[in-house]
Amino acid sequence: KDRVLTGITCTGEPHIGNYVGAIRPGIEASNDNSKESFFFMADLHALIKCQSPKTVYNSSLAIAATWLALGINTDNSVFYRQSDVPEISELCWILNCVAAKGLLNRAHAYKAAVDANLESNNDPDAAITMGIYSYPVLMSADIIMFNANKVPVGKDQIQHVEMARDIAGRFNHIYEELFVLPEVSIDSSTPILNGLDGRKMSKSYNNTIPIFLGEKKLRKTINKIKTNLLEPGEPKDPDSSTVFQIWQAFATPDQTAEMRQKFENGIAWGEAKAELFELINGILKEPRMRYQEIVENPEGIELALKSGAEKARDLSAPLLEKVKKAVGISPFK
Ligand code: TYM
Repeated sequence: KDRVLTGITCTGEPHIGNYVGAIRPGIEASNDNSKESFFFMADLHALIKCQSPKTVYNSSLAIAATWLALGINTDNSVFYRQSDVPEISELCWILNCVAAKGLLNRAHAYKAAVDANLESNNDPDAAITMGIYSYPVLMSADIIMFNANKVPVGKDQIQHVEMARDIAGRFNHIYEELFVLPEVSIDSSTPILNGLDGRKMSKSYNNTIPIFLGEKKLRKTINKIKTNLLEPGEPKDPDSSTVFQIWQAFATPDQTAEMRQKFENGIAWGEAKAELFELINGILKEPRMRYQEIVENPEGIELALKSGAEKARDLSAPLLEKVKKAVGISPFK
């Protein structure tokens, strides 16, 4: 059976990029009996970027409520918060001791932080923590702790999954073949969605469309998507337009073909955005109501997460024991 696993970092409200890149394919997998799936709120990863305790905790609840509202099948999947499974942190240390520094030097997130420092004439190490440096090692622990072989993520995470594969391979080579080598699973038609300003949609750029914005706010936010200055009636290029890109991620192929035609016929931006709002709102309206009910009951969410963590630990604890024995920690216990 394929083992599918994916996580979302708890640094704010989940957005429609997270939805198309990870949540939608994850929910599909959770309803597929031929797969075993694992979904988690990455709160340990959140500490890398966010030092507001409230944001981290509330975000873990908001992301959990989002999965639940959108219909994750928790009977057929393991649904937990990363920090509720301490074996992940223990494994992370052991992996830190086999991961090559040279490999981590090449990680996008770390390199981007160094480049930003250099651009502002700062010390290249300024404000760079060991957390950001070993982010891919923690992500490797997340994945191989459950011997997941398929990792559905957006294209921005491909490198990290490849690093997990590399690190797992090194462990297996040095010690014992305990880990499955994971691979990314990407629906090639799913793009990295752009945000309101045309850059990648990301919580760190403050350019996102949160999944469960209220109707009015959703309409307003969609109206803020940056467009070029073409007037109504002037043909518009769908393939360079954020409005069209988001449309395509939510629409059926027929609806997309129709919208492409409208762009070529010079639909007004206001009209295109109004149609985009109707499309997204139609899809998210019902789950949004469920979401409101779920977030109002944090104890209910905690209960679901606790029982998920128990299921997760039934699997992680025995594997961690094997790992510890393999490296010489309490081998005769
Ligand atoms: P994060 O929290 O940045 O994003 C969560 C998921 O959403 C996808 N995604 C996008 N997809 C399309 N368009 C976008 N604009 C967009 N922005 C984000 C991401 O590719 C990701 O699939 N380190 C990971 C979380 C993580 C993880 C893991 C994932 C921790 N451990 C183990 C998989 C397996 C992260 O920061 O994702």
